[in-house]
This record gives sequence, structure tokens and C-alpha cells, in this order.
Amino acid sequence: MASLTGQTALVTGASSGIGKAIALAMAAAGANVGINYIAGDDVVEQMVHDIESSGGRAIPLKADVSREDEVLAMFRKLIGAFGTVDILASNAGIQKDSPFANMTLAQWNAVLNVNLTGAFLCAREAVKEFLRRGVVKERSLAAGKIIFTSSVHEVIPWAGHANYATSKGGLAMLMKTIAQELASEKIRINSIGPGAIKTPINRKAWETPEAADALRRLIPSGRIGEPKDIASAAVWLASDESDYINGTTIFVDGGMLLYPGFRTGG
Ligand code: BGC
Repeated sequence: MASLTGQTALVTGASSGIGKAIALAMAAAGANVGINYIAGDDVVEQMVHDIESSGGRAIPLKADVSREDEVLAMFRKLIGAFGTVDILASNAGIQKDSPFANMTLAQWNAVLNVNLTGAFLCAREAVKEFLRRGVVKERSLAAGKIIFTSSVHEVIPWAGHANYATSKGGLAMLMKTIAQELASEKIRINSIGPGAIKTPINRKAWETPEAADALRRLIPSGRIGEPKDIASAAVWLASDESDYINGTTIFVDGGMLLYPGFRTGG
């Protein structure tokens, strides 16, 4: 695996699912890790313990990424503990699904606030620190790296999930715009677009054999993804191995974007 030795990573939404796998993989690759979460103190305590017992360093950072004051305090704490931040894995995300006509403003706002405003707030604070510190060539060719967890739904429309799909479509443009703006400062910004990964967010889609079969029909590779499928891409995107990758989304989706309906239709 690519090395992140000596670098500090902040992973948001890291107490479960994809975020947890990214945090553990970055620690295994040698990074100090700030584990952001909102619920699951016991899980995060165990993660810190496991990382430290394998010789790594990690701190818990409880904060709601959609609240500016909490994000500012989180960055102060992270930078206080490790001196700086080199990598942001902006991963925190939620779903509040509803048929469009019944979608409440609260459901709309909750999803946009976490998935898009949260990404904005964390990215902005990370970029301030990247710009202040600049490149430290012993650690990385870049002054900083951001990896957003997006979704295949930054591209695929998704009935019953207008708030979620909109947040990911917006995230794609946030990612590309700030990548364009900050490339000359040696900051690299990319997204990962996961397909159906087995995590708590989509439990209903895989927990019964019937649901899992229906889901697999949308995946040409024929298997539901695992969090580690995303974590290895995140470590690579955070490392200098991907130094020439900037402003793009890497889809890790078993081919979900290949219009699987056309295997037999059309
Ligand atoms: C969603 C999951 C869904 C997957 C594929 C993800 O972004 O969070 O609920 O299973 O996209 O549709």
C-alpha cells in the first residue's frame, strides 16, 4: 500500500461504514488520524485503541460538520495535537429519503447541510492550513490533498432521493471548482464515487436475500462493494502515487455506471 508516513489525515464521518475503513487504512499507511464522528463514542474509542496498539496515532474529534463553530474547534484540536493537517477525507454523509412531493424542508436541509455545507466547511479549513504551511517535501509533493466521498449519484439521478442526489451533484462541482482554483498552490482535490457499498446507510438495500439480489442486478461486477474497496482508493488518492490526478471523480462501483439495464435491453 502507498505510504502516508508522517502525514496527518482528518477523516469525517469515521465511526462507521466507508469513513471508518478510510480512517483505519490511512492509519495503517502511516498517517496520524483525526477521527471525526457524531455518534459512536465506544466505536471510536476502540478504533483509537487499535490504531495506537499497532504503533499509530489517532485522536477522536466529535463534531457536527454542518456547524461552523464545531468545525473550527475540530481543526484547532487536530492541529494542536499533530501540528498540521496534510489530508482531508471529507466523508460524512447522510440520507433522508422521501418521495419528492412529500419531502420536508427539514429532510432537504439536513442532507444538504451535512453532505454539501459540511464538505465546504471542512475543505475550507483544510485549505487554509495547506496554504499557510505549503509543501513540506519530506512528506509529500503536495501542499495538501482533499478526497471527497461522493457517490455514483453525482451522475445517476435517483428517484426518491432528490436531496441526496442533489448534494452529490453539488459536491462534484465544488470539488472541480476548488481543484481548478487551488492546483497552482499544489493542492490536489478529488472525489471517490462509490457505488453500492455494504454499510449502515443502505442496510435496507442488502439485508434480505431478495434485496441483495435486486441490488446485484444493478452491479455488472456482480458483488456488493465493501468499505475496504473505497479505503484503498482513498489511500492511493492521498499519496504521491496519484500526484498527477486532480479535479476528478474516481468511481469505485463495480460498473454500476455502465447502464446495466442495457445488458439485456436496448
Ligand atoms: C448511497 C447508497 C446506495 C448507493 C448506490 C450511495 O451513494 O448512499 O444508499 O446504495 O449510492 O445506489
